[in-house]
Amino acid sequence: MMRALRKLELTLAILKPDVVAHPHILKQEFFFVRSKKLILTPTRAKEFYKEHDGKFFLNRLVSFMSSGPIWTHILARENAIPEWRRIMGPTKVLKTIHEAPETIRGRFGLTDTRNCTHGSDSPETAAREIQFFFPEFSIDKWHDTEETHFCNGHVGFDEDLCQHVSFQDVSDAIS
Ligand code: RTP
Ligand code: MG
Repeated sequence: MMRALRKLELTLAILKPDVVAHPHILKQEFFFVRSKKLILTPTRAKEFYKEHDGKFFLNRLVSFMSSGPIWTHILARENAIPEWRRIMGPTKVLKTIHEAPETIRGRFGLTDTRNCTHGSDSPETAAREIQFFFPEFSIDKWHDTEETHFCNGHVGFDEDLCQHVSFQDVSDAIS
């Protein structure tokens, strides 16, 4: 069977410890494909940020990221990667507060470290970061089996799971 046209892109989003206490409702803007709330150990945080090895801010970033619970999400929409980064706003909060006050970081960011959110910066990064937090998830399998439910709007939001579920799964579960 030929694979259906890919309409939706997946990205990995993190709500960092500073915003988990004040969750935003973004479920109108994105499909929440999978969600996990967890606490990173410093070792895992360091592994996640290994691209920043040697940078001056790494230690403070790692201790902040392991200081409390975070939410990690696989988000889907068209152009999910740039769209999520647009909604987050630029990295440097002190500048962003003036230049993009409507973004998450502009509204809720406290410092350049405590800047609320993370978003993958390319499809390759998204694939790696999705694997990091959701090793049981297959991006290819999702495109093949689940994406059409999302494209057709056959999904609802499950508040307990904090993710959209296809009506198919719901009827399977109760039958
Ligand atoms: P992110 O990876 O978090 O989605 O954001 P980004 O691409 O805009 O930022 P990146 O350069 O990848 O940096 C990752 C995170 O490191 C912290 N950081 N602190 N000058 C600083 O103190 C500094 N610079 C970066 C931020 O928490 C940033 O999100
Ligand atoms: Mg980055």
